[in-house]
Amino acid sequence: MRLFSLALLVSTWAWACSALVIDTASLGLHDNQLAQHADPSLAGYLGVFFLGADPYVYFYLSNGNNPISFKALNKGSPIFKPTKGTGGVRDPTIVPGGGSEAGKKWYIIGTDLNIGKTTWDAAQRKGSKGIFVWESTDLINWVNESLVVVEDNTAGMVWAPEAIWDPAKGQYLVHWASKFYPTSDPNHIGNPSSIRIRYAYTSDFRTFSTPQTYIDRSPTNIIDLTILPLNPSNSSSQSFLRFMKDETLKTVFVETSTTGLFGTWTRAGGSSVIIQSGVEGPAAYWDNTTPGKVHLLLDFYGSDGYRPFESSNPGSNSGWTQSSRTGWPTGLRHGSVMAVDQGLYGRLSSKWG
Ligand SMILES: *[C@@H]1O[C@H](CO)[C@@H](O)[C@H](O)[C@H]1NC(C)=O
Ligand SMILES: *[C@@H]1O[C@H](CO)[C@@H](O)[C@H](O)[C@H]1NC(C)=O
Repeated sequence: MRLFSLALLVSTWAWACSALVIDTASLGLHDNQLAQHADPSLAGYLGVFFLGADPYVYFYLSNGNNPISFKALNKGSPIFKPTKGTGGVRDPTIVPGGGSEAGKKWYIIGTDLNIGKTTWDAAQRKGSKGIFVWESTDLINWVNESLVVVEDNTAGMVWAPEAIWDPAKGQYLVHWASKFYPTSDPNHIGNPSSIRIRYAYTSDFRTFSTPQTYIDRSPTNIIDLTILPLNPSNSSSQSFLRFMKDETLKTVFVETSTTGLFGTWTRAGGSSVIIQSGVEGPAAYWDNTTPGKVHLLLDFYGSDGYRPFESSNPGSNSGWTQSSRTGWPTGLRHGSVMAVDQGLYGRLSSKWG
């Protein structure tokens, strides 16, 4: 009897250990890379958002190096407004330059949608097939506004574009959500496909490769993909986290790849685990000072917009906790946050602080 329980205990322990090993390895954490994340050169965070009734680009700067305390720049007025397309931009995301543009160039891209001028139904059947692009070499002057059409007329809309430098390709991977109507339904009156994530490559946000499908979970609708490098200190690392919204169930979840942006993605915990329901527009960023901690903004679209969450095990769908909102502004909607060094922090502060 005793021997049996001991054997059971040993085998349970061995199973627990092997499970643990598989889990950490699948997250790419086997060589303590997380310890490298906190970067002493980083002095704060720039948040780029739109506000509920105001589809323009707003900047928020962290109070010092506090990742969950932000103040509006430019006295709360937009940094810029679109002049093309619908005249409204939602889901603005700031894309740091990669490769030869690293530290020298930034892009803001976003959805061409002013919902005040249309309806949610029309916006998905006959919405814009373009993405807004602005360019900057200093984070202060935003120029060269363009509306780049990325899908053909079978698409109902192009939503929530984001981009990330792909070290394996040496170009930017741009992705967005679209659904499609058959060519026999040119007026988009009938039933569309499920919403899937599409992608294209670009070197300059002017010319894009022919779009292809990146994530298709049909019949489930997927929108609002965002990708976070797992080892930001190594620009050639092939490890990434990706957060997205299940638009059918209205939930947000995370997947991990250690084999590149087109490698094998694993949803830790299985196909039904989630981080949070009733939210959209995930925006993720590493903590500048606490190694291994990720902040995740989740847009409570039916309520007060973004609320910050945090985790020290960001590849897991469980264990995310709501952060303090003492220093958190209300009403921020789907956008993005980027770490900035002292030079950029000072420049943003003196221009718009
Ligand atoms: C704006 O476009 C012009 C013409 O292509 C280019 O020379 C310039 O570098 C661009 N400005 C920025 C800030 O990217
Ligand atoms: C960075 O990542 C690449 C690709 O995985 C790897 O070959 C290289 O050893 C890494 N560099 C460092 C300093 O860890």
